[in-house]
Amino acid sequence: MKVHHVGYAVKSIEDARKEFELLGFRCESETVLDNVRKVRILFMTNDTCRIELIEPNESDNPIESILKKVGSSPYHICYESEDIENDARLLKEKGFRVISDVSEAPALGNKNVCFLYSKDIGIIELVQEY
Ligand code: NI
Repeated sequence: MKVHHVGYAVKSIEDARKEFELLGFRCESETVLDNVRKVRILFMTNDTCRIELIEPNESDNPIESILKKVGSSPYHICYESEDIENDARLLKEKGFRVISDVSEAPALGNKNVCFLYSKDIGIIELVQEY
């Protein structure tokens, strides 16, 4: 599967954005609020790699524990899937645990995404790409 982006949990998108600009990244779009996941999201790219900066917007969000444990850090890699329902099911059969079922991601133009966990490789995300 092709890598779509690397997801970074960050305490501040604005602070992280400046650091990634020093590394040659530029914003792909505006920061988007994801009301369901209670985070704000900004995608950046350097043409070789895309990164997703994820900042808490309200408490009780999925990155709170990561920020608390390790601070700002990468925590998931997102892979492109041509059939997300099927790929999620196959991975689940192979022992991956579903963190969140297939649902729309506002920051990705409402494409379907899902999150899975493997004790051997950590958190992955799938995004439906036609
Ligand atoms: Ni992501």
